[in-house]
Amino acid sequence: MATALKIVPPGNTVSNFVSRTHKLFINGKWVEAASGRTFATYNPATGEVLAQVAEGDRADIDLAVKAARAAFDTGPWRKLSPSERGRMIWKLADLIEENLEELAEIETLDNGKPLKIARAADVPLAADLFRYMAGWATKIEGNTIPISVPYTPGAQYLAYTLREPVGVAGQIIPWNFPLLMAAWKLGPALATGCTVVLKPAEQTPLSVLRLGELIQEAGFPDGVVNIVPGYGETAGAALAAHPKVDKIAFTGSTEVGKLILQAAAGNLKKVSLELGGKSPNVVFADVDLDAAIAGAASAIFFNQGQCCCAGSRLYVEKSIFDKVVDGVAAQAKKINVGSGFESSTDMGPLVSEEQLNRVCGYLESGFSEGATALSGGSRHGDKGYFVKPTVLVNTNESMKVVQEEIFGPVVTAMPFSDPEELITQANDSIYGLAAGIWTRDIKKAHRLAAQMRAGTVWINCYNIFDAALPFGGYKQSGWGREMGKDALEMYTEVKAVCSAL
Ligand code: NAI
Ligand code: MG
Repeated sequence: MATALKIVPPGNTVSNFVSRTHKLFINGKWVEAASGRTFATYNPATGEVLAQVAEGDRADIDLAVKAARAAFDTGPWRKLSPSERGRMIWKLADLIEENLEELAEIETLDNGKPLKIARAADVPLAADLFRYMAGWATKIEGNTIPISVPYTPGAQYLAYTLREPVGVAGQIIPWNFPLLMAAWKLGPALATGCTVVLKPAEQTPLSVLRLGELIQEAGFPDGVVNIVPGYGETAGAALAAHPKVDKIAFTGSTEVGKLILQAAAGNLKKVSLELGGKSPNVVFADVDLDAAIAGAASAIFFNQGQCCCAGSRLYVEKSIFDKVVDGVAAQAKKINVGSGFESSTDMGPLVSEEQLNRVCGYLESGFSEGATALSGGSRHGDKGYFVKPTVLVNTNESMKVVQEEIFGPVVTAMPFSDPEELITQANDSIYGLAAGIWTRDIKKAHRLAAQMRAGTVWINCYNIFDAALPFGGYKQSGWGREMGKDALEMYTEVKAVCSAL
């Protein structure tokens, strides 16, 4: 029985917010760009302009860095007790939760993802991340260290370490989880007592601008968080190169990650990078078939495939290959592709025309090299940036679609028979972000987990994230870990203090 489509129109609150003039948030105030310029952000479900946003550039980044510098060096922020800092971060989490519906609708409008996903995942996970990090604010500790100092025999010392905030953090985030990526970046920076200049992606600035208002409401002192929307090549590059920024944190393409690294060399600012992936998802013949098929499908199709850790290379043990790939293709065909505001929608549009063209380009490349599609294989409709969920077979390791990150709803499936060769194949990638393993044999699962060159390994599950679980990449998938206790290390310096007694 077909269920009636329920179109959920964006609520009034959201329309009010979206139709406003969107400014930069610098030193606690909403200001125009120095150049007076604005740029458009689009609704990817329709291709229509949603709003105009002030376009930050070098001059605005300069002002924002000055504000963040002053807030760090001389402002009231550093004088707050860790408990007060923690409570402010917790308050921000409460405000995110209170405004969950509005934030979710903004995310769906600007990014395209299904509203039910933004409501269930993006916004609650952002609130949870801030709560988790709020708890850390009072627990950032050094050690007391018994030292021996052989060249001062008989002398006594008290030696200890302090873990101090690194200073002004520049943070550049992508468009696939706009609010959540802002939370991943801001949470540890604020918990450790840093100040921030944050640049959202030009495709999706709106939810982060709404977050800026909540940051004001939570009572953070002026200049602690500054938000400068703008383009990567201008605002982003200026932030990465800025001599007064102590640390730069970036999530996005590996290509731009390398540019960030070069730009950071000028003042040797600390760098953390969360980059691309081409993650293997391995299914053994002893598996719970239904769970593995559903898991393999959601590993690639979640968020329209626009996940750095998407399970985009599916390796299936030969004896069950046909069953699994047919099963994943059958699931793909059942996925409802449409506007994120329809309650029946499982998959929304890709974020932009550029991304649509990139993904379709990969599909063409795959077909020209001999791949075939068991499902999808093309754009969906002619309005908006939709792509059909696609399962590619007859692929091999030399194809571009197997080697490169597609960042769309496209999985390549390949059979394997020798588990040793499988490990070599699975690790044969410049990336090392995540890996999935599906088997009932726990020994096999944990042995393989140890051999995967990846920052996250999921066993009989996929895309399980938690604020307490570190996330990041081996190889060209990045430097450093976000979330968990490990994230604090990226925002702190260790100071050794040694006192003669
Ligand atoms: P991108 O890496 O160009 O953009 C990500 C962020 O970096 C945006 O905020 C952008 O404004 C900024 N940026 C761009 N150029 C910059 C520069 N020279 N200096 C400083 N900041 C800069 O990613 P894009 O072009 O949107 O997508 C291209 C591909 O990147 C995707 O197809 C996907 O493969 C990958 N990607 C990976 C993401 C991840 O989560 N790891 C997120 C977004 C994209
Ligand atoms: Mg780019």
